[in-house]
Amino acid sequence: MDGDITEAAALRYGSGQEMELPVITGSEDEKAVDIERLRSTAGLVTLDEGFANTASCRSAITYLDGEKGILRYRGYPIEDLAEKSRFVEVAYLLMYGDLPTAIQLDDFSAILNSSSLIHEDMRHFFLAFPNNAHPMSILTTMVASLSAFYPVPENPNDEEEAQIIANLVSQVRTIAAFSFKKFIGEPVVYPSYKLRFVENFLNMMFSSPVSSYEQDPDIVKAVETFLIVHADHEQNCSTAAVRIAGSSLANVYAVISAGISALWGRRHGGANQAVITMLRSIQEAGDDGRQFIESAKNKKARLMGFGHRVYKTFDPRAIIMKKLCHRILGKPGMTDPMFEIAMRLEEAALSDDYFLSRNLYPNVDFYSGLILKAAGIPFDMFTVLFAIGRTPGWLAHWREMRHSENSRIARPRQIYVGPLKRSYIPVNLREKHSVGVMRRSRTKIVVSKYPEMADPSGEMPEMG
Ligand SMILES: CC(C)(COP(=O)(O)OP(=O)(O)OC[C@H]1O[C@@H](n2cnc3c(N)ncnc32)[C@H](O)[C@@H]1OP(=O)(O)O)[C@@H](O)C(=O)NCCC(=O)NCCS
Repeated sequence: MDGDITEAAALRYGSGQEMELPVITGSEDEKAVDIERLRSTAGLVTLDEGFANTASCRSAITYLDGEKGILRYRGYPIEDLAEKSRFVEVAYLLMYGDLPTAIQLDDFSAILNSSSLIHEDMRHFFLAFPNNAHPMSILTTMVASLSAFYPVPENPNDEEEAQIIANLVSQVRTIAAFSFKKFIGEPVVYPSYKLRFVENFLNMMFSSPVSSYEQDPDIVKAVETFLIVHADHEQNCSTAAVRIAGSSLANVYAVISAGISALWGRRHGGANQAVITMLRSIQEAGDDGRQFIESAKNKKARLMGFGHRVYKTFDPRAIIMKKLCHRILGKPGMTDPMFEIAMRLEEAALSDDYFLSRNLYPNVDFYSGLILKAAGIPFDMFTVLFAIGRTPGWLAHWREMRHSENSRIARPRQIYVGPLKRSYIPVNLREKHSVGVMRRSRTKIVVSKYPEMADPSGEMPEMG
């Protein structure tokens, strides 16, 4: 279904001109005014900073209803997938539209396995990063570098495309584990054909030449579920970055690297770390949560992991994560006082008019950091885990765009608010007109990082 034209919206503009704009209805009855002819007919564009009201594409991958707390991949509720599926099945579903048959799943697992090693020469790259380099910086760089080792044909056929997808889904995980090993200064552990996707990752992370890693099925399930609930979330910031970079027909490894870069920020993939930082500070302050709630209400702090741009009743992923917390942290020896604090915060917030009246509920990040912490995943790896989970989603969008007849280069418009046309000013007359941060002060400005190169007269050296 490509979105049917069901009705029209009338636009009145200028001195009484009118224009009819088609209204497109999606498969779940969501409606969009199609403005494709707006500029050519009326000379107008739309302004929607942050794209809160803009559908950038038609997509058949993920459906999300923030008012009703619904999230479905290819029609399947996230709750069912999280409970019954493996991450590899979900990756296949997102990519190809249906859950795999047993044979398809075997084939997909086999190609993921056979693609899990990265070119041995790439291992040298890891040596060049400084010790303690953030694993996200290594991940973005290494994923872009894959393009040099695995050339992408100009127009990949189905088989070549399947190989690219397998490389990325599998190798992002290998690179993630290798970057952690670099971070802690241990030798890398290679992927094993004998292990499934998540077990393989945990083994690469936590085994070493001197000790083996014992898999705990509950931890495996927890990490598997984390990856599943993060696998796609329609047109979020990083997926939009992937679609925009991909629309130029850039190399797919560079395109996924763009997604990883966009994910890195604390407004996006970095939020689960912020929750743990918040819980730790509450714990260290000896607060039972009440004081923190008061500071959040007084705008002195933000209750991290609460509120969402799209979900306005509940985030279905948060419910799944909370149940998992009970399961994992309820095990003997696994309790975490931060979970107690989180539950107290949630209870207090959900009985407080400040949060209720603003539709602020726990989001996926409120409990997911606790899951990763319980699984032994180090703090700096949280966003990397998110990237492993989101890679199939990014690739599904890249693939959908590649096969779409409507695919065009993404090139938004803007409303220009700068100066009107003005005359060029020769450099010796500029000072009295200059504005902005480079305005010359009376004190000497040293612009060179080499002090001896700064002109003692105080003149600005030519910057080229
Ligand atoms: C997710 C988030 C960015 C959504 O932002 P948004 O839709 O733009 O909502 P706004 O920031 O406009 O907030 C609306 C109101 O709720 C308040 N609010 C929003 N989230 C809040 C929070 N976590 N704690 C306290 N107050 C919050 C705002 O201060 C604002 O109050 P006001 O109406 O008195 O000005 C925001 O809720 C937030 O910062 N949450 C914490 C970070 C987080 O968990 N991010 C992960 C998202 S998956």
